[in-house]
Amino acid sequence: MANARARSQGSSHRHLILVLLVALLSADFLLPVATASAAVAVAAEGDGENRSARQWATGKDEGELSAEREASAGGSVVEDDFAGGFGSLDSMLQWAIGNSDPGKLKEEAADVQKLSEDELLKRRVEIKELMEKLKMPSDADLMKIAITDLNNSSISLEDRQRALQELLILVEPIDNANDLDKIGGLVPVIQDLNNANEEIRITSAWVLGTASQNNVLVQNQILGYGALGKLVKMGYSKSTKEAAKAMFAISALIRDNVNGQEAFQSERGNAMLQHILASNSIDVRLQKKAVFLVTDLADFQLNSENSGLAFLSEHVFLKLMVDMLSRFDLDLQEKVLLAIRSLLKLPSTDAADLESLGLDSVLYRLGVQLEELPSEEQKEYAGEVDGLRREVQALFQQKLKQGTAAAAA
Ligand SMILES: *[C@@H]1O[C@H](CO)[C@@H](O)[C@H](O)[C@H]1NC(C)=O
Ligand SMILES: *[C@@H]1O[C@H](CO)[C@@H](O)[C@H](O)[C@H]1NC(C)=O
Ligand SMILES: *[C@@H]1O[C@H](CO)[C@@H](O)[C@H](O)[C@H]1NC(C)=O
Repeated sequence: MANARARSQGSSHRHLILVLLVALLSADFLLPVATASAAVAVAAEGDGENRSARQWATGKDEGELSAEREASAGGSVVEDDFAGGFGSLDSMLQWAIGNSDPGKLKEEAADVQKLSEDELLKRRVEIKELMEKLKMPSDADLMKIAITDLNNSSISLEDRQRALQELLILVEPIDNANDLDKIGGLVPVIQDLNNANEEIRITSAWVLGTASQNNVLVQNQILGYGALGKLVKMGYSKSTKEAAKAMFAISALIRDNVNGQEAFQSERGNAMLQHILASNSIDVRLQKKAVFLVTDLADFQLNSENSGLAFLSEHVFLKLMVDMLSRFDLDLQEKVLLAIRSLLKLPSTDAADLESLGLDSVLYRLGVQLEELPSEEQKEYAGEVDGLRREVQALFQQKLKQGTAAAAA
């Protein structure tokens, strides 16, 4: 939303200038009344957006902002030796309004038409420069405004939440995410993980997760600030919403990242996962996220031939997985089968351990259930899950045989 608004605001200024440009440089100038009033209409609209967007972006009042703007733009005066040249956007508008008298406009048009190619070119350059000066705040500017607000401890909760939500949108593009730490944004966002207000904590976890998705640079920056420990604690929250957002951020932060996975282990992330997976009173959607993370971690171990996450093959962990297969939730069962399939492939996972947990009979019962229970609509899905079940069964038997052979040798 932030981007869309900033962009539409920028484009209406551009539109205004283009309308004026057309009026200045084309033959349409001879029929200027409609053009001039269109310019005024567009200007009025642009002004309204400009005002609301600025108020949206910061708590500062309009006076303060225009003072800042003047200071940063060195005043909005454009050097111009063009007779009747535009000193500012305001004077350009006044000109547009002032010239809506057709007789006068014709005169001006005649003047414009006397200009040489060179002069016209110069005029274009000037208008381009004016456009640059009027350029609306960049994403980096908007991020700075939001961060200034986050750094301000006396800001209201509402404004803090709004600043975080702006960042949430702004950090989606990878370039912006890469800039976040450079402009001092990660530290205040991470601090908000400790905010007393749950919504603030949730949104800051969300920002961190969004910024670190598929971005090893930002992952490592956030890990470097030690945010993972706090997120792991959030995973225990009684609020499903908060725990789920923590899980989202953790997953984004440690995905395909060895440092992150080591930190996850040393912050006892495995205990947090066990807590979520073990309790029947925990929202099943949160459990599915946890199972998904397990699969992701196991696949990474496998593909990177890393063996850092010993907990994945621990008895207590495997038991939780096997137990979850008996829950009557097809979607959960599918996700757990995927996790077990990945865990079985890990060299550290002992098939005999899974045998002692009764995986064989659990898989058998699941097969019966998948054949008998599904309603008409679920038949196809149940068929897919059953295919996966057979695959896990075969993998399990194979690994079991290998284990026995190895023991006998
Ligand atoms: C924005 O709004 C202010 C006052 O509301 C106005 O003076 C200015 O021309 C508008 N446009 C820009 C680009 O600042
Ligand atoms: C911090 O926020 C308060 C309340 O919105 C405001 O009055 C104050 O000017 C802000 N301070 C800075 C340094 O922006
Ligand atoms: C916000 O605070 C952080 C440190 O907490 C600092 O690095 C950063 O420069 C500050 N940014 C702004 C825009 O105030």
